Amino acid sequence: MGETVLELKNIVKTFPGVLALNDVSFDLEKGEVHAICGENGAGKSTLMKVLSGVYQPDSGEIHVNGQNRKFANPMESYKSGVSIIFQETSLFEEMTVLENMFLGHETSKKTLGFLPVLNYREMREKAREIFKRLNTKIDLDTKIKTLGMAQKQMVEIAKSLTFDANILIFDEPTASLTQREVDALFSIILSLKKEGMGIVYISHRLEEIFEICDRVTVLRDGQYISTKNVGGTNKDELVADMVGRTMHNYYPKTETELGDVIFRVENFYDEGFLENINFEVRKGEILGFAGLAGAGRTELMEAVCGLAPKAQGEVILDGKKLSISDYTDAMKEGLVYVSEDRGKYGLIVDMSIEENISMPQLKDFSKFGIIDRKKESAVAAEYMKEITIKAPSPDFTVNNLSGGNQQKVSIAKALAIQPKILVLDEPTRGVDVNAKAEIHKIISELTGKGLTILMISSELPELLGMCDRIYVMKEGRIVGCFSRQDATQDKILKTALEGEGEE
Ligand SMILES: Nc1ncnc2c1ncn2[C@@H]1O[C@H](COP(=O)(O)OP(=O)(O)OP(=O)(O)O)[C@@H](O)[C@H]1O
Ligand SMILES: [Mg+2]
Repeated sequence: MGETVLELKNIVKTFPGVLALNDVSFDLEKGEVHAICGENGAGKSTLMKVLSGVYQPDSGEIHVNGQNRKFANPMESYKSGVSIIFQETSLFEEMTVLENMFLGHETSKKTLGFLPVLNYREMREKAREIFKRLNTKIDLDTKIKTLGMAQKQMVEIAKSLTFDANILIFDEPTASLTQREVDALFSIILSLKKEGMGIVYISHRLEEIFEICDRVTVLRDGQYISTKNVGGTNKDELVADMVGRTMHNYYPKTETELGDVIFRVENFYDEGFLENINFEVRKGEILGFAGLAGAGRTELMEAVCGLAPKAQGEVILDGKKLSISDYTDAMKEGLVYVSEDRGKYGLIVDMSIEENISMPQLKDFSKFGIIDRKKESAVAAEYMKEITIKAPSPDFTVNNLSGGNQQKVSIAKALAIQPKILVLDEPTRGVDVNAKAEIHKIISELTGKGLTILMISSELPELLGMCDRIYVMKEGRIVGCFSRQDATQDKILKTALEGEGEE
């Protein structure tokens, strides 16, 4: 260590109405994993986009491998040795793995007129070599759209290695990975580190920072706060730097008196995905669903909410058998689903925060077919304050929000419908510690007012901290159920793996 490969000096970046980075400096050494932490909207992704040529800074300097650089676009940054794996994937779904890897810098041997003749053999060979280095098997000719999240990410990493990068940036790489995939990713990061790469690592999961990082830099509201050796700090200190005060209660669950059974799912099945599912939940209860990736939790919730056309079974709400043929039916009955994939059934990113929040119930916001924009803004502003959505105003476009703030909008949108049963699929993915506690607090308070919650989460501490009961799923079946008192991380993991639970 000791050789500095990257220096960002006094970077300032503004967007209309937003000071995203205010005089931020950062440096990275050869063979180092350097974390960047901070609340949603702190400026982490923006700093990395400035480094990778997506944005140009208003002022400040970028030094890469000892040279002062200005990057007009990502390709220029790539060519100087900086590779970034973005928070949202940037692959082309209709193209193959190989095509994606070499897009924009295909190797060509000769040209035919003006057209380069691509050297597929060379590219294929190089691609194979890279995947070997990553210890991963993947068919180079499959289309991206057929791959899962973890595989897509592996392609992103492989793509970044097609350039001879010595600086690698990961922006929340583990947000949609399972534990086993996270372990695989970490061993790759550590081996790249050994090869001498400098690695920037952004994550909201603080335990990951203590696992693989050497130093950690904290940003808050676009300002540089601190840089520390990971070995010389701890979680509480980091959180205090991030939020500007000490935090004690990460899972502020309030005790609520549970009502009668309000919602029952009976004999649910969907061939190949779900097998004979039965469960019930009481009014005011927070019911958790644990399991490994692929256990069928998302499939189950989609099916219950009318999003899986082939699923069969009965859904009973308030003693009434519902007939749900699509999601609109479910919403009308008060059954609302917040997908783990914000883009899928959730947000329209080209629209504003207020438009997104009011959309599902435009009727309530209009008179004689005219939308009451004032009311729409007021409602949105209230939610923005309650769950700390960081944006200049309610008419701000969702696309321009940070990742975690987009997630908060999708929760606000669901809450505004005032559901009876709220289904949350990985509700706090990509959300910072402070906002997580805020969301937990709101959820908990709402259950006191009679809201009932079904919650899928891959973060066991979140389930253990918030739920009254936890079901465990494996291979499309419910294989265990634990009460709040009985549930432990070990018991749930064991049941999720082996399937022997106390049904
Ligand atoms: N293209 C843009 N136009 C306007 N504002 C933007 C744009 N991109 C980012 N911002 C704003 O800049 C600020 C910093 O955003 P950034 O995405 O860097 O946050 P972050 O630290 O990565 O947060 P998260 O943890 O939620 O991903 C936010 O207030 C965001 O709304
Ligand atoms: Mg970000």
